[in-house]
Amino acid sequence: MNFASDNIVGASAPVLEALARANGGAMAAYGGDEITKRVKARFSEIFERDVSVFFVTTGTAANALALASAVPPWGLCVCHRESHIIDDECGAPEFFMHGAKLAGLPGVAAKLDAQAVAAYLQGLPKAVKQMPPKALSISQATECGTLYRLDEIAALGRVCREHGLSFHMDGARFTNALVSLGCTPAEMTWKQGVDILSFGATKNGCLMAEAIVVFDSALAEGLDYRCKRAGQIVSKGRLIAAQFEGYFAGDHWYANARHANGLAQRLAAGLAALPGIRLAWPTEANEVFPILPKAVDQALRAAGVLYHPWTDLSLPATERVGADETLVRFVVSFATEEAQVDKVLDIAKSALGRQAAE
Ligand SMILES: Cc1ncc(COP(=O)(O)O)c(C=O)c1O
Repeated sequence: MNFASDNIVGASAPVLEALARANGGAMAAYGGDEITKRVKARFSEIFERDVSVFFVTTGTAANALALASAVPPWGLCVCHRESHIIDDECGAPEFFMHGAKLAGLPGVAAKLDAQAVAAYLQGLPKAVKQMPPKALSISQATECGTLYRLDEIAALGRVCREHGLSFHMDGARFTNALVSLGCTPAEMTWKQGVDILSFGATKNGCLMAEAIVVFDSALAEGLDYRCKRAGQIVSKGRLIAAQFEGYFAGDHWYANARHANGLAQRLAAGLAALPGIRLAWPTEANEVFPILPKAVDQALRAAGVLYHPWTDLSLPATERVGADETLVRFVVSFATEEAQVDKVLDIAKSALGRQAAE
């Protein structure tokens, strides 16, 4: 049973079927094909306005290239100190920003607070010796599986406007966040001030398809050239676009995310109901972060259940992981089965029973 991430599974059937349909015959290369045009138009429908869309093959490429559009080489990009862009992308954002820096701020549950960001920005020295802040990046869902509410995104959007920053959203788990909040894609992004979005689809059912969606048209300028220089203009581009076609058809993307989030809720509730287990952060999308007694952790690992240990940096000040405990992350995917979740719960329950009997 593998709960290590939501990218440990392959692509979902409708995505593969759309790929197979797009495979036959000859079409224009490098995104000049009809499928690419159709899917780009579909993005504008989904976001209820004209958007510029650039397809890339990884979330790292989406983030790095989106940020490179928003931040000049002498600029700062403010983000959470545990964000994927700062911790898990091997410096790709800084590399593509050609010298610009990421400034990581703390925040409970991997969330940035608008007032704290405003205070940080106000406190920055404004001299030519210091790098000026040029963008803010947030992850939705966050690295702790939590969500920004719409008013929280709006508050951050206002801070960006007041300080002249572009507002980027890393939406590697965009749809998981969307279905939990029950809002529209437009409401979760540009209506709250988001200027540029990394729209993730790989984790939620695609094979390798992510999109940079640009709301502030100034940020789209030259982005096609940036993508090409990064090797992200796929010659058989129709096979990237086709994945999105299968993903969007019949609201398959929503169904996948609802499935994953629903099972994450089942896992979270089941674990939290067991004595001695508590959740580090509420389960708001498809990730569950329990603090487990070490005996439970050992029993799960001995049974072959895979998941990652997690950092306690974003715990609330009142919460601590005890010496006989461990904080871990379970990620539920569109392909996880209910029986797999129940098996984890059974193993945890048995381990606690054995511990109590000793
Ligand atoms: C928050 C976040 N952003 C972006 C990514 C995309 O990363 P990748 O380059 O592996 O597609 C991930 C994947 O783990 C992620 O969790």
